[in-house]
Formats: sequence, structure tokens, C-alpha cells
Amino acid sequence: MRITVLGTGYLGATHAAAMAEMGFEVLGVDVDERKLEALAAGELPFHEPGLGGLLKKHVNSGRLRFTSDYAEAGAFGDVHFISVGTPQRPGSYAADMTYVESAVTSISRHLTHDAVLVGKSTVPVGSARGLRALARAAAPEGVDVDLVWNPEFLREGHGVQDTLRPDRMVLGLPGPADRVRQGEDADQESAARLEATMREIYAQQLDAGTPLVVTDYETAELVKVAANSFLATKISFINSLSEMTEAVGGDIRTLADAIGMDERIGRKFLDAGVGFGGGCLPKDLRALRARASELGLDQSVRFLVEIDDVNVRRRDHTVGVVTEMLGGSVMGRQVAVLGAAFKPESDDVRDSPALDIAARLHSIGADVHVYDPQANANAARRYPRVDYVDSLPQAIARAEVVVLLTEWEEFRTMTPQQLAPLVKHKQILDGRNVLDPAEWERAGWAYRALGRKG
Ligand code: UGA
Repeated sequence: MRITVLGTGYLGATHAAAMAEMGFEVLGVDVDERKLEALAAGELPFHEPGLGGLLKKHVNSGRLRFTSDYAEAGAFGDVHFISVGTPQRPGSYAADMTYVESAVTSISRHLTHDAVLVGKSTVPVGSARGLRALARAAAPEGVDVDLVWNPEFLREGHGVQDTLRPDRMVLGLPGPADRVRQGEDADQESAARLEATMREIYAQQLDAGTPLVVTDYETAELVKVAANSFLATKISFINSLSEMTEAVGGDIRTLADAIGMDERIGRKFLDAGVGFGGGCLPKDLRALRARASELGLDQSVRFLVEIDDVNVRRRDHTVGVVTEMLGGSVMGRQVAVLGAAFKPESDDVRDSPALDIAARLHSIGADVHVYDPQANANAARRYPRVDYVDSLPQAIARAEVVVLLTEWEEFRTMTPQQLAPLVKHKQILDGRNVLDPAEWERAGWAYRALGRKG
């Protein structure tokens, strides 16, 4: 089986390299020629640990190639993964389906033999069924094309591992599961064929014990946004509680540890701080609300409004705490911001709390110096008005307050002793609750955190 991957962003590039690693011949397809040139030269246009090596390995082995030509892709592939973006539509919370629709139409039009399309992009529930019809209408006479929905759960920074060894696989097949059982022949047959194809592609993962969930299109589409919305809910839950611990002098980390020991709750995604960002959680949460609204189900997901509001409030609150630490105004004051990426091990600044907070501080008059180990260039493109520096010492040299906003290893492991000779004012705000308050206080620092005393 030969594979194409349509869209070579974080998701597509990772998926393409992982498929090559699994032994397939892979063709990556994109409309962005500059990105393709970089990838074809074995260079990653973004930061993702472990992916660069894999890309180089398979570009060199000849198993992984790239093109912008859909005719070449249609002739080449037996299975076409769709991993183009579904960004938030301007002026709305809904997902923009233009790129998915265009990828499906373009590839279907250029098929020269029967093929399977595999949807990986995050789409509003109800999309797959329409995309299947679109593909069938666009495919040339005599060519059979079918569609399976296979949502992706990889995390930036852990993409390779998440693709090669996922927690679970979900396959959405045509025809609601119960109707398939009752024997709608055509759909039943195609569902069985699609499942067999996908089992063959993912044989390595399945043999290694990855659980497989086989279901209908709608459930598969919803699993993806439900998972991301649930993760966002956990984070906003703990952040709401951190507003309380902060007010009464409690400790949000100990609280999270204690409730997390209950296996039904679990400790993961209970790290309080500046809140969630990135290209997925905020967008998916909003797209789910928009889709629910279209279905007349605003009430069902009304809690998601609050999840989003709590998250946005974190950014205002952080700016408020910095202002307080500087005695009531940031005007003309020197602020060091550590981190610009939305999370460590990533150079992605989409909807990044760190960059947003840096920008807000700047917009109310602070003199902001930002240092991120990987994301400076992306951050400077998105928000050029603050000062970006290349090292931690440069960032804090003149700082009246140091603000830690993305928990890179370099910041998690820094010590008050290491920083002391580099700063004039020993004031630090730990926006991710990753430092030890006692250690910093003992060393004579004014330490503040979001959600615990200090
Ligand atoms: C997320 C999901 O975790 C993936 O499973 C999913 O495939 C992906 O979205 C997607 O839809 O493509 P990602 O956006 O890479 O992955 O980042 P996460 O690791 O989920 O972190 C999201 C945000 O939450 C970050 O800003 C992070 O700092 C924040 N976070 C996370 C917290 O504030 N507290 C936590 O306890 C955990």
C-alpha cells in the first residue's frame, strides 16, 4: 500500500515520517512550496523533538518524498491521509473547512485507481458524511473512493511517540454502527473493507496492544473534540480552584496532588498556572460550542463558555499580579518574560498565554524582554513590539521582576543562586508553579506564584 499525506504541518509531517518509519512509501503533499522545499531537504520548518532525525532518515532512504502536485499524488497513493488545518473562521468560533474540502476534492478528482481517504483533521461533527459524498462526486467514472474517519491525538512536543505508540486508535466508518449491524448492505461492505485496510496500515500499533475503537463517523469526529474539551475542562477546573487557594493562602499543587491520587480523577492536566493555549485546545473548545449552537444545543455545552472564560481570566490575573508586584503600575518598568511558546518543547506561539501576557504587559507600558529557547522567531513575527533576547541572563539583566510563563527545562531547573548575580531586583512570579517557593524565599527573593502562597 502506498500512502499520501495531504497537508504537511505539525500533524501531517509527523504522520508522514512515522508512516515511512513503519515501512510504507510515503508522498507528502502541500500547497506551500517553501515548506515542501525544506521538508524535501530533510529540514523541519518547526521544532519537534525526534522528528528531524526521522525526516532526514526517510528522505535519504527515498521512502519519503514531497510534492505539490495532486495529479502525482492521485496516481501514487492507495490511501490518502487528510491532515490539513481547520483554523477558527475569522469573526466566528466555527472551524474553517475550506482546506479540508479542497484537499478532498483535489485528490478525488486526480485518482487514477480505487483509493481510501482517511480523515485526520479536526472537523465539526457531521462533516465526514458530506466529505464522503464530495469525494465520490469528484472521483472519475469507474474509480471507487471511500472515506474513514481516524482522528489524531498527538501532542506537540511528543508527536513521534504519540504517532508510533498512541493511547488508542479510533476509526469512524460509514453508516451508524447499529444500522451497519442491521444490514445496510452497501455501507456494511464498505465499512468492513475500510476497517480491514486500516487494520493493515496500523498492524504494528495494533500488534503492540494499542486499543482500537471502531465506530460511526459521528462518534469518531466527536471523540476528538470531546477529548480536547475534557482536557481543557481539567485545566480550567484546577485554575478556578487556584483562584481560591491564592485568596485564602492554600497551595494548589498540593491540592492537585491530593485529588489526583484518586484514580478516578488522575493527576495529569491538573497543573495550574497561566492556562491553556496552542492551536488545538482553545480552537476545538470554541468549535464544539459553535457546532452545538448550530444543532440548537447551546444548553448542552454551556459549561464550555465558562471553561474558556476561566482560561482567558488567567491572563488578566497574571498581568494584575505583575502590576501589583511592581507597586501598582508597570509603566516604564523592566519586566523579564521567560517563555513565549504555548508550552515547552514547542516553538508554537498560536494562542500562547505567555506571548499574550507579554504583549498585554507591553501594551500597558512595561518594558518587556522576552526569552524563549525555541520560539523567539515565531513570537517576533506574531508580536514584534517587545524586545526578544537570546539568553536568560540577557532577559533578566535589567528586570525589576522576572515572570516565568512557559515551563522549559531551562527555567524549571534555574536556581535563585544562579540568577542572583544577574539581577538587580530579586522578584519572581512563577506562572506555572514549577519552582520551589521555600528555596527562593530562603535565598531572599520575593516569590509569587499563581495559586499558592509565597
Ligand atoms: C492537545 C491534546 O493534548 C492532544 O491530544 C491533541 O491531539 C492536540 O491537542 C490536537 O488536537 O492536535 P497540544 O495542543 O499539543 O495537544 O498541547 P497539550 O499538551 O494538550 O497542552 C495544551 C495547553 O494546556 C498548553 O498551553 C499547556 O501549557 C496547557 N496545560 C496542560 C496546562 O496549563 N496545565 C496542564 O496541566 C496541562
